[in-house]
Parts: sequence; structure tokens; C-alpha cells
Amino acid sequence: MSEFDGRVAFVTGAASGIGRALALAFARAGSRVMLADIEGDALDTAVGEVRRTGADARAVRCDVSSEASVEEAARRTVEAFGAVHIVCNNAGVIVGGRAEEIAERDWEWVLAVNLMGVVHGIRAFLPRMRSQGQGGYIVNTASGAGLFTPGMLGPYSASKFAVVGLSECLAAELVGTGVRVAVLCPSFVNTRIFDAQRNHPDCSERRGVEAPEKADPLSAMLPLLQSGMEPERVADRVLEALRAGEFYIFTHPEMRAVCEQRHANLIAAFESAERSFALGRAESKKAGA
Ligand SMILES: NC(=O)c1ccc[n+]([C@@H]2O[C@H](COP(=O)([O-])OP(=O)(O)OC[C@H]3O[C@@H](n4cnc5c(N)ncnc54)[C@H](O)[C@@H]3O)[C@@H](O)[C@H]2O)c1
Repeated sequence: MSEFDGRVAFVTGAASGIGRALALAFARAGSRVMLADIEGDALDTAVGEVRRTGADARAVRCDVSSEASVEEAARRTVEAFGAVHIVCNNAGVIVGGRAEEIAERDWEWVLAVNLMGVVHGIRAFLPRMRSQGQGGYIVNTASGAGLFTPGMLGPYSASKFAVVGLSECLAAELVGTGVRVAVLCPSFVNTRIFDAQRNHPDCSERRGVEAPEKADPLSAMLPLLQSGMEPERVADRVLEALRAGEFYIFTHPEMRAVCEQRHANLIAAFESAERSFALGRAESKKAGA
């Protein structure tokens, strides 16, 4: 019997891409699933697909950038299923461009969905999970862009670095509680993420990456996205990693070289500090020599 059998999974961004694949994977592993998303029609389609696996699945319209909306989704999840054991804070959006040129409203939107969405998920669900006393998992979707950044993704990278940091913090806070935390850091996955503008609050005034008004940095990366990993493989990897008790869930081992380079840069910066005259280190070493 699967350890997810009979458990209750709540997934945000469940109408598309990685979230939809997670909902299906938990359903196939025997979980009951609450799918949450801001897009109503796509959500109806996705919950239908999950039900066809034979699972007990429900759907709730939810805007993760709204604390009240996530709280209501948590209330309805527990009302429907009696408990909640797996929370996937997965919904996300992206904009590309130079940090100084991206509109303040776009900065706020990306941070509100990608960072505050995770915060709202934690605040709404964690107290319920703690008081149930049945353990469980919080799985936060960050990104490879939360570990290193190629540039032109300021709000996105800032939000994803923040989700990695928040997840590390939460893991420390939850030691011994039976609730485990994991942070998912994929590289390119073949989803609709570059068409995230469809969910922008000013959507009617904007155009997606499929019809950019001018050269959009996301357009240049579109072939990489479309040839990326299929979301189903990412979801299978998440369940495998949770079973194995992994905290960082990596899906693209080829990211290792860029992470190693970043870590080498960090270590080199410590070595500079150790040699620093301003910090008095070089002089004290000389004095001690
Ligand atoms: N696709 C990739 O290459 C990739 C790589 C790394 C990380 N990620 C992350 O994976 C997560 C899922 O994205 P995806 O790639 O499946 O994209 P996707 O666009 O296919 O799915 C994202 C889902 O989030 C929903 N959503 C958007 N705003 C929302 C809001 N305010 N409230 C609730 N739901 C909202 C969308 O309606 C959509 O169903 C995101 O956090 C993304 O940053 C994606």
C-alpha cells in the first residue's frame, strides 16, 4: 500500500502543468485530492481528469495571492475530506525583462503569487496539519531559478530564491512535528508558464508570450521550455523524493554544474573576506605569523 493511500492532497496551480500532474500522481497513489486554481474552466477539466483515475477529487477556485482565498480553500478542503496531509504550494507566474524596466505592478504580481502564495498556503494549512497530529508534507514549488539565475528574470528569481529560503526556514521549525517540508527546484518543464500573462490582473490589456509586442526574453527561451521535461515525470520524481525523505527535490541533474559554479563563487567571496585588510584579517595574520 502506498504511503499516500487514503491521504488528502491539496495542490495549487492544479489546472495546468506541474500542478495538474501532481494532482494526477497523488490520485493514482491513492490520495484524495483538492485541486485549486484561479482558472475556472481549466480547473473543471483537470478535476474531471483526476476523477477518471477513480480518485475522490474536488476543485476549489482560489487566488493564492489572496490570504482570504487560500484560507477559504483550506476550510473547504478539511470540510470536504475531514483532514489534509499533503499541501503543494505550486501555483506560479513569470515575467521576463531587465529588473529596472519591469513595471512595479509586475514585480508585485509575481511576488504576490510566487512568494505570498506559498506564505498563504503555509499559514492556512500548517496550523490545521499540526492540530490533526497525523504528520504530512508541505511541498513548495521553487525553481532552478531559486538556486542560480541567468538574468532577465528579476521578480521570478527573487521570488524563487525566497521560496527556497522560506522552505529551509520552515524545515528547521518543523523538526520533530511529523510534518515534513520539501522544495521542488525544476529546470525547464513543458508547461504553459510562459503564457502566465493569461492570469495577470490586467490580462485584458496585455498579450502573452505567444504574441509579444516586442522582443520578450521569455520568447527566446520558449524552445527550451517546449523541449523541456514533461510534467508527469516531475510529479513522479516528487512522489519518489517524498518517499525517500528528500528536502531539495531536483529533477534536472544537469543543473549541478551551475550550482557548483555559484557555490565556488560564494567560497571565493569568503576567502576574500579572510584576506581583507578592511576586516583587519591580513594584518592580524601577519602579526600572528
Ligand atoms: N515550467 C517550468 O519550466 C518551471 C520550472 C521551474 C519551476 N516552475 C514552477 O512550477 C510551478 C507551476 O508552473 P507550471 O510550469 O506548471 O505553469 P502553468 O502555467 O502550466 O501552471 C501554473 C498554474 O498556476 C495557476 N495560477 C496562476 N496564478 C494563480 C493564482 N494567483 N492563484 C492560483 N493559481 C494560479 C495557473 O492558472 C496555472 O494553472 C510554478 O510555481 C512555476 O514557477 C516551472
